[in-house]
Amino acid sequence: MCGIVGYIGNRKATPILINGLLKLEYRGYDSAGIATLEDEDITIIRNKGRVKELKKSKDLDKAQGTIGIAHTRWATHGKPSVVNAHPHIDCHKNFAVVHNGIIENHIELKKFLTDAGYTFVSETDTEVIPNLIDYYYSKEEESNDRLLKAVYRATQDLKGSYALAIISKIEKDTMIIARKDSPLVVGDGEGEKFVASDIPAILEYTNKIFILNDGDLVKITRDNITFFDEDFEKVQRKAEIIEWSSKSTDKGEYESYMLKEIYEQPNAIRETIGTRIVQNDKCDFSDINITKEFLESVSHIYIVACGTAMHAGVAVKPIIERLTNISVEVDIASEFRYRKPIVGDDTLIICISQSGETADTIAALKYAKKKGAKSIAITNVMGSSITREADFTLYTHAGPEVAVASTKAYTSQITLLTLLAIHFAEVLENEDKEIIDNLKNELTEIPSKVSIVLENSEKIKEFAKRVYKEKDLFFIGRGIDYAAAMEASLKLKEISYIHSEAYQSGELKHGPIALIEDDVTVVGIITDRRLVNKSISNLQEVATRGAKILIVTDQGIDEKIFENIVKIPKIHPFLSPILSIIPLQLLAYYISKEKGLDADKPRNLAKSVTVE
Ligand code: G6P
Repeated sequence: MCGIVGYIGNRKATPILINGLLKLEYRGYDSAGIATLEDEDITIIRNKGRVKELKKSKDLDKAQGTIGIAHTRWATHGKPSVVNAHPHIDCHKNFAVVHNGIIENHIELKKFLTDAGYTFVSETDTEVIPNLIDYYYSKEEESNDRLLKAVYRATQDLKGSYALAIISKIEKDTMIIARKDSPLVVGDGEGEKFVASDIPAILEYTNKIFILNDGDLVKITRDNITFFDEDFEKVQRKAEIIEWSSKSTDKGEYESYMLKEIYEQPNAIRETIGTRIVQNDKCDFSDINITKEFLESVSHIYIVACGTAMHAGVAVKPIIERLTNISVEVDIASEFRYRKPIVGDDTLIICISQSGETADTIAALKYAKKKGAKSIAITNVMGSSITREADFTLYTHAGPEVAVASTKAYTSQITLLTLLAIHFAEVLENEDKEIIDNLKNELTEIPSKVSIVLENSEKIKEFAKRVYKEKDLFFIGRGIDYAAAMEASLKLKEISYIHSEAYQSGELKHGPIALIEDDVTVVGIITDRRLVNKSISNLQEVATRGAKILIVTDQGIDEKIFENIVKIPKIHPFLSPILSIIPLQLLAYYISKEKGLDADKPRNLAKSVTVE
């Protein structure tokens, strides 16, 4: 949601800003704009719609400056339009601002500023910020840090969340940035500096990155980056050297990011396992300190997340319960704190978030921490906000995930959480060595099994051609297969805009079967050996009512009875969602493709949902 890019250096800013915005497209947006500082004035060019249209705009020729800020906006206050798009400028045209987040007290601030003579043109909450900066600038004494001080005073008035980048036609060689509850990073180059919401946007220029802390205010010039903490004290921050190559954020030979990321899964899983599985020894989790005493004191575990990450939680609940004997509840983050769950110092909360920025997940984590829970964050993004809140952080090493619909992060999350469950069992000195050894062996084989599934996509492509015009699809499964069905259904909704539902196969008879008629499509997932016959019966019940059936299975199911069977390699039942989801990610993808949609950027969705 909303992306920010900034540049200060000696090159022309516009190409760098546009390029950065293109890299942030995955966050979801509906308008875009840039502002550059010219000799006398600030040039602002904004557009409703895609960055590629902004890139074609003839007006861009006017933006020649070497300092600039840029933004992709995901509308919250005010519809998508040119006037609501960022950057926003104060009514005296002195300060241009881009903002990610929500200013909760903008109505009150607008009133204050209006009374002070300021005027507004947009419906946004953001427009109060440049005006507030102008107001405080006028109150500040002349000094080298007048802009910095004005921004600090303005941020003190803001309630809500923000990542901000500010340029001014008065202090021409300075950019100020600030963050509270919205991500922001600065890249350090030789005589030039880069700002962005996320590392991939600037990685091709520098891999020396500072990740801002909450409350940080930063003064940036071509040669210096000076940090101030929330108390406005000058502080030192340490740069991270990022090891991903900027190529990992390119589409490469693939037609879309989503397809690329689906095909990257063997490697993402391999990287996530990394060196955690140690031959003839316990798993290596030396990066977190979970003791036997603590685990013995835990009465229940909450897994809290949103969307796909929440589905990863559903998939691993049985493994964690089986290996630890501790009950696990999986909660939707936006619901968690409002239902007042029982949380105390005997609670462990595991928050899963690919981006590490999802506002609801972070809010749930803060709530649980306040009540005394210990916390573990599972994320894919180094230094993301969630890592600052959790007691311990574990990283999936899936590499940057750009497509809005999550694929490789999901399978990597299940992999990492399975390893964590094994770690818990080993810490607890669980006697069940056989299952632990089995899981370890199977995990090491999973990347090659995923490759096998990916190499056999023909049947799925064919099936997508048959069903892409449909209005409804059902995904059914029992036990762990239901977890995969939930994720399959979400993938389809997200990128093909076809309504779909996931049901526990046995629950069909209690209502949904009334919806089954000639040619409705039902996808069955069957990997749980104990439940094969029951699952087949459920599918026959819908087949006799005219449903078209597709089965994803690692079991020997008679192809004479069901014509569309996608076979996946045999797999430990606990790990089956990692394999069974792959053909269904591809199904969603090819349906979206048949419909001529952009799978990478589905309508209305954002990759990183930074507002509640
Ligand atoms: C958004 C995305 C989903 C994602 C969810 C959670 O809704 O569109 O694909 O699963 O956020 O994101 P997170 O970054 O917390 O895993």
